[in-house]
Amino acid sequence: WPQTATWDGGELHLGGVGAVELARVYGTPAYVLDEADFVARARAWLDALPDGDVHYGGKAFLSPEVVRWLDGLGLSLDVCTGGELAVAKAGGMPPERVVFHGNNKSPAELRRAVEWGIGCVVVDSFTEISRLAAIAADLGVRQRVMIRVTPGVDPHTHAFIATGGEDSKFGFSLSAGAAALAVDRVAAEPSLELYGLHSHIGSQIFDLDAFGTAANRMAEFAAGVGVTRLDLGGGLGIAYLPTDATPPTPAELVAVLKKETAGLRLAVEPGRSIAGPSTVALYEVGTIKGRYVSVNGGMSDNPRPGMYGAAYTASPANRVSDASPSLFTVVGKHCESGDVLVRDLPLPGDLRPGDLLAVPVSGAYQRSMASNYNHVPRPPVVAVRDGAARAIVRRETEDDLLRLYL
Ligand code: LLP
Repeated sequence: WPQTATWDGGELHLGGVGAVELARVYGTPAYVLDEADFVARARAWLDALPDGDVHYGGKAFLSPEVVRWLDGLGLSLDVCTGGELAVAKAGGMPPERVVFHGNNKSPAELRRAVEWGIGCVVVDSFTEISRLAAIAADLGVRQRVMIRVTPGVDPHTHAFIATGGEDSKFGFSLSAGAAALAVDRVAAEPSLELYGLHSHIGSQIFDLDAFGTAANRMAEFAAGVGVTRLDLGGGLGIAYLPTDATPPTPAELVAVLKKETAGLRLAVEPGRSIAGPSTVALYEVGTIKGRYVSVNGGMSDNPRPGMYGAAYTASPANRVSDASPSLFTVVGKHCESGDVLVRDLPLPGDLRPGDLLAVPVSGAYQRSMASNYNHVPRPPVVAVRDGAARAIVRRETEDDLLRLYL
């Protein structure tokens, strides 16, 4: 649960605001973001790497308000599409503190980024090196770039979010020599400045050895080609269930990275470990049929159980109950039997329609991956702090959806 979560007579309070009040004012489902928790987690990264750069991985969750928090704290920002770049711009992030990722940035996206004065573009293919060089030359700019390298490390996480292996759509292979060739290509382009090297081995990683191995290989490569900056990506795992192992802290991860990279300036790109634990998804129970508890959201606002087999927990959030618990399966309202949020969850036997269920650790890759499946409008994000709540992303409406149709 986020740092400010308290329970008062069975009612969950976040940032000093009760769940019943939040549901009444903002409706459900809603993502409730504990601003103090988010900020504290971002600060922990800055404290862990005072002599380096912390690029928040915007793909985990981004909005202009979040950009303003990051900017105020002194973080930098990692974006990976023109859309995320537009949010960075809308939130007033200084362009020089933005890094642009992606394995297939379009020429239009690259041009927009260079014109805006983006701090760094992480180049991911030979095609992109030539494309970016031509755009920068055309705009009369010498563009800073990092080269995305795949260091060939297995991070022991879900296959869909492992990115550092040799067979990956991302980056230039270290062992096959493509990374060295990329360094030569960038050096040969007068409109590009080789600023550093980048690697990102995957996400939801608990294995510090994998980070250490990647850092070691990257540092060795950097020394060989005379580069002094390494961006070692994001990927630190978080606990989703009370029974999950305790994840390493940012300081523990940075210590491992530093041990391998003496003399180099480091950057990291945490997304999940900042945004994930800060947010609780609040749902209302609609029907109860046997073991199935249906809530008023589901795979459209949390695709992670279906996509990655991710396990979550949930807790009643509006009242105390003395009823003995039974095992329930919490499902969504979508037209698929795979639309399951939590399996085999002990919940009070007297749970009834209208009760609120809160799902913790809902801040990363949920709102940002939410869809309109079955024409379900996406929930709002409500920031809570010091007893006050405000929407930082409003609830989508059916009119928003209908506006797309011609
Ligand atoms: N940097 C790069 C280049 C990335 O590709 C990513 C995440 C990050 C940083 C941030 O990583 P984090 O600290 O959040 O692990 N949708 C998946 C996660 C995909 C991660 C993609 N890249 C999920 O819901 O688990």
